Amino acid sequence: MPMRALEDFERQLQRQLRFIELKRGAIGRRIGWRLRDFEQKNLNRDEFRFIRSLIEKPLTVGAVAPSGKVLARVMANYVDPAAAGPIVELGPGTGPVTEALVERGIDPARLTLVEYDPEFCRMLRQRFPAVNVVQGDAYNLNETLAGVLSEPAAAFVSGLPLFNKPLKMRLDLLDQAFGLMKPDAPFVQFTYNAISPIPRSHGRVRSEASGRVWRNFPPARVWVYRVSPP
Ligand SMILES: C[S@@+](CC[C@H](N)C(=O)[O-])C[C@H]1O[C@@H](n2cnc3c(N)ncnc32)[C@H](O)[C@@H]1O
Repeated sequence: MPMRALEDFERQLQRQLRFIELKRGAIGRRIGWRLRDFEQKNLNRDEFRFIRSLIEKPLTVGAVAPSGKVLARVMANYVDPAAAGPIVELGPGTGPVTEALVERGIDPARLTLVEYDPEFCRMLRQRFPAVNVVQGDAYNLNETLAGVLSEPAAAFVSGLPLFNKPLKMRLDLLDQAFGLMKPDAPFVQFTYNAISPIPRSHGRVRSEASGRVWRNFPPARVWVYRVSPP
């Protein structure tokens, strides 16, 4: 092929590549607008924030949506507002269980939330200004809560996706929590799984379970663990 024809061919190719690039950008922008439109029409702010976090850190978030009101209320109902002492929530996410605890009559100033995700922490501080939000690792409670609780806790309430962690880590977490709680105080945990995240035979731990909460996506069950006094 003569040199001139080759140069013409190259120019045409470049023009077509530029055209394809432009088209690709336009299609990308259109998909972005559609997504934003979908989010605004179909998802509230919490669901949107939750899904973004799930995409970024699927194992840490461990759920496809925040807990619904019914599940949050079932969890909160295991906490006795009259029992003295702080109440600790682990993995509060966007705060549906926190809200149910406050609606149950628990003074927000009694609540300490331990959340890993800094953006969830920012949201929680805005939404519940009187609550103490600690950004940190709930599986390392002794360090994360060092000097935070003024007295043993009246309850722990957890939304952590426990099944994403090995059994030893789950048991360590429970033992650390019991070390920070009053005797016989409840450790409340929900799970989508059919079985308890803590084996029934662990030490002196007693467990009880709610019925399956069908009005949640996905349906879930609440487990409550207590340590029998010696
Ligand atoms: C299944 S979501 C539950 C959120 C909320 N409690 C609810 O019921 O909608 C789990 C939450 O635990 C948090 N989380 C996971 N691992 C954690 C850790 N090691 N320490 C503190 N928070 C953690 C996640 O960031 C997320 O907010």
